[in-house]
Formats: sequence, C-alpha cells, structure tokens
Amino acid sequence: MEKFIIRGGKPLEGEVSISGAKNAAVALVAATILCDEPCILENVPEISDITKCVKILKEMGADIKIINRNTIRFDTRNIREPVVPYELAITMRASSYFLGTLLGRFHEAYVPMPGGCDLGDRPIDQHLKAFRSLGATDEIINGANHVTAKRLIGSQIYFDFITVGATINAICAAVKAEGLTIIENCAKEPHIVDLANFLNSMGADIRGAGTDVIKIRGVDHLHGVTYATIPDQIEAGTYMVAAAATRGNVLIKNVIPKHLESITAKLRKVGVTVEEFDESVRVSVDGPMVKTSLKTQPHPGFPTDMQPQFSTLLTLAEGTSIVTDDIFDNRFRYVGELRKMGADISVDGKVAVIQGVGGLKGAPVIATDLRAGAAMVIAGLAAQGTTEIDNIFYIERGYENIDEKLRGLGADIRRVYTEDKGAAKLSS
Ligand code: EPU
Repeated sequence: MEKFIIRGGKPLEGEVSISGAKNAAVALVAATILCDEPCILENVPEISDITKCVKILKEMGADIKIINRNTIRFDTRNIREPVVPYELAITMRASSYFLGTLLGRFHEAYVPMPGGCDLGDRPIDQHLKAFRSLGATDEIINGANHVTAKRLIGSQIYFDFITVGATINAICAAVKAEGLTIIENCAKEPHIVDLANFLNSMGADIRGAGTDVIKIRGVDHLHGVTYATIPDQIEAGTYMVAAAATRGNVLIKNVIPKHLESITAKLRKVGVTVEEFDESVRVSVDGPMVKTSLKTQPHPGFPTDMQPQFSTLLTLAEGTSIVTDDIFDNRFRYVGELRKMGADISVDGKVAVIQGVGGLKGAPVIATDLRAGAAMVIAGLAAQGTTEIDNIFYIERGYENIDEKLRGLGADIRRVYTEDKGAAKLSS
C-alpha cells in the first residue's frame, strides 16, 4: 500500500501539463474493438483505469503494443470470445463500455456488472434500453450481463435522463448497425464528442455529437487510424482549483479552455483570476476568496467530477456556500475526512452547506473515491501542517503522476510505502 504525505501551506507556482482525458480514453480503448484494422491511440493517460481496460483487451486475445508511455497500438482482430473477465470488470465503471463495443462487433457480449467509485447505486438500465431498441436481448447469467442480437437494426433511442455511459454504449452498438439510429436526450460531454471523432476518423458516420440528438448511419467496415485523446477537463480543473486553494500562480498547459468554461466561471465568482490562452489557462489569486453556490449539471454545466475539489476550495472562502450535487446518490462521502482538517460542512442528502473557515489543518485522512481523493490532495496542499492520505490507489485511477506534477509546482508531497493492511476504512 502507498500513501501521500503532504506538508502544506506552500503556494503552487509554475507550469503543469495536462494528460489525456481518462473518461475519453477508457471509451476509446474499448472502441478499438470496433476497428477492423490495427489502430494507434496517442495521448493516452498512464493511469490504472487504462491499464485495466488494456488488460481486458489482452485477456480477450487482442495484440497490444505499448509504443511509448502515452501511445498504444491496438490490434483487436484476434479477439474470439466476447467475454470480459470478472476480476477486471468489477473494478471500474468503464468495463460497461465493452457491452456496447462487443455487441457492435460480435452481436454478443458477456460482461460482469461494472464496478467503479462507490457513488451510490449505479444501474445500467438505460444502456440496456438502447441495446434493446437496436434489436438485442439481454439476461443476467451468474451476475453478468449477457447481451445478444441476431441483427442490430438502426432505430430511435430516447434516454429517460442524461447519461454519459449509456450515450457512449449506444453509439458503439449502433455504429455498425443496419440503417439509421437516432439517439435523443444524449449526454454532451467532451468525451462523447471525442469518441464520435475517433469513430468517424475510422470511417463511421456519426453526426450531432455534442448536441442532444446524435444520428448514426451504420457502416460495415472501420479502418485503422492514429488518433490523439483530448486533454482531461477534470484533471485540468483539479490543478486550477489546487492553484487557487494554495493562493498560487500556475499556468496549466495542454487544455481546451472551452471545456473548462463552467469551472472558470465559478472560480472567477470566488475571486480567483483565470486568464485564458489558446491551449492553456493561468490561475492566480490576489484578493479575498468569497462564498459561491453551485449545482452540478451534465455538460456544459458544472461537472460532478469537480464537486469535491471545488467544495474543498469553498471551505477556504469567506461566507457560506451551498453546493448541490444530485447526479449520483452519494458524492459527499469525503466530507467527514475534510472535517478532520477543520472544515465546517453539513450535508443534508444531496446538499452541502459549507461555512468558510479561513484555513485547514493537516490530518490523517483517506481518499473515499477518485475525485474525493483529489479533494484530499488539494486540502493537504492548502492546509498548515502535515496531511497523510491513505487509499491513494483511488487517485491513481484518474490522475497521471499527480505527485510528480505537483512537485514540479513546488509542492512538498511524498509517496511512502506502508504495510499492506488492505484498504483503509471510512472513520465516520
Ligand atoms: N444512471 C442510471 N441508469 C443508467 C445510467 C445512469 O440510473 O443506465 C444514473 C446514474 O446512476 C447516475 C446518473 O444516471 O445517477 C448519471 O450517470 P452517467 O451514466 O452519466 O454516469 P457514468 O457513465 O456512470 C460517467 C463518468 C463519471 C462521471 C459521470 C457524470 C466514466 C467512466 N465515468 O459515469 O466519472 O461522474 O459520467 O459525468 O466516464 C469520475 O471520473 O470520477 C467519474 C465518476
């Protein structure tokens, strides 16, 4: 087991480069199954969720070549059995993407129930609804989803609510279906657009990604390509908030500023200076930081994946902020950990009331999930004294080299090895 030890209170200064987007890359890696020739993905983040997706492909028989740290060649032509191994599926939500991609190629998929961060109940009913609309049937066998179709036939899919995962799975299942598929009430996240661009560059016919109606005309063949993953909106946002929380001055490079607009707007409301350039943003703080309320929304609203980090910043702002996050059932599990550091936050269901405390104090805490872990890192960097963060394997699911990148900004953060006692448990 490893943990981070942070001696906080130092402003972050300098430049940091953002890696490829986790939530795009996991979809792109799964979508290589749909490609009838070898393809190369660039700007793939070196994070554990990608390692697992690649392992799933390898276990199914794909030929994978790591060209360099962030570039991977995929040849999925040798996959014979559309079966995802149990031990890998249960560790992440993105394993569900193999349902859509295997169904799209083999007209059959056997994928154990996906795992992922514990944010409350995370059903896949909308994914299955999309597959059924295309002519598939599904059943649960031994705790796994078994989806089959004699033929996949283009059709109209209307999601009951906005869902990123089901939008991705519907695109993947429809891309080689016969005829026209129209998907309505789609998610509009940048990674949906990235997936559509990847598939279109292989010869797919997908229009409207990034709007709430996506039209897909099925094609028979997808050819090999070299494609670069978009920069990670949430990693960038996390460094923006870390710069603000430490009252630092950081140039965050390799970003698409448009993807950061909702985060930039909220930071400015808090009193943080954000300058936008073509492919970078600079974040600095001169004056006081003040209360700001927010509600998470699907893109282009404020992302739920930034809520724990931003709430941590709000503990340092003057006044009382109200944060509402109802995308998932439970995204406030980290609050008990922040309280150990002196935060004044009360939670009622999906609403947190955050009373600014002026400063945090170092403490031993645990990462309760990926973004909660990032919030603990930000709290540790901003706090006076030493913070020890346990369960950092959560953080490594989504942040490439976070400790190295932060040291490059002057942070005092160390990774230490501890005796393996299993995952630390929540104390509250
Ligand atoms: N939902 C259903 N049924 C479905 C699908 C979703 O009830 O069939 C519910 C979910 O339980 C949730 C809401 O709908 O309450 C939205 O879920 P969505 O499908 O949009 O989320 P997801 O695909 O499970 C992805 C990201 C999450 C991110 C959300 C929202 C990946 C691998 N995961 O999850 O990322 O929070 O979209 O933007 O892309 C993270 O990176 O830390 C993370 C959790």
